[in-house]
Amino acid sequence: MKRIQWFVLILVLVGLLAACGGGSSSNESQTVAISGDVIAGEQAYIGSCSSCHGFDAKGLPGLGKDMTTSTFIDGMTEEQFVAFVKAGRSISDPANTTGVDMPPKGGNPALSDTDIINIRAYIFSLK
Ligand code: HEC
Repeated sequence: MKRIQWFVLILVLVGLLAACGGGSSSNESQTVAISGDVIAGEQAYIGSCSSCHGFDAKGLPGLGKDMTTSTFIDGMTEEQFVAFVKAGRSISDPANTTGVDMPPKGGNPALSDTDIINIRAYIFSLK
């Protein structure tokens, strides 16, 4: 009888370990976790991003890139997206692909982290 109890305990422990392993893979799916407000994001997007990225976020020739098909955006967590938009991507950045500046916060210093999170939700709603 004692042996069976040990066996059950070990099975439970193995189950718990497996659950922890599952937890780390669910972290990866947080990459596409969206928490912003799409409606507020649309307003902020129109005000701060559409002049270069277009009203449909598909980009404008010689200005911002298409965000609806951007795998770069898909690969970023919410925090990384906020950090990226705050920093922008100047032409001196080796990652710059267009030779055109992406200004910090799209050139709007008043943009808050919440605004950027909402903008991200809006962009994902267009994808
Ligand atoms: C003055 C023009 C301009 C404005 C305004 C602007 N961007 Fe950009 N953005 C760019 C340019 C140019 C690039 C491409 C830079 C490069 O060559 O890699 C870019 C790239 C990006 C990228 C990277 C896309 C990718 O696939 O590499 C993101 C994300 C982005 N912008 C988000 C925003 C957001 C959000 C806003 C509004 C807050 C915004 N941008 C406002 C010009 C702008």
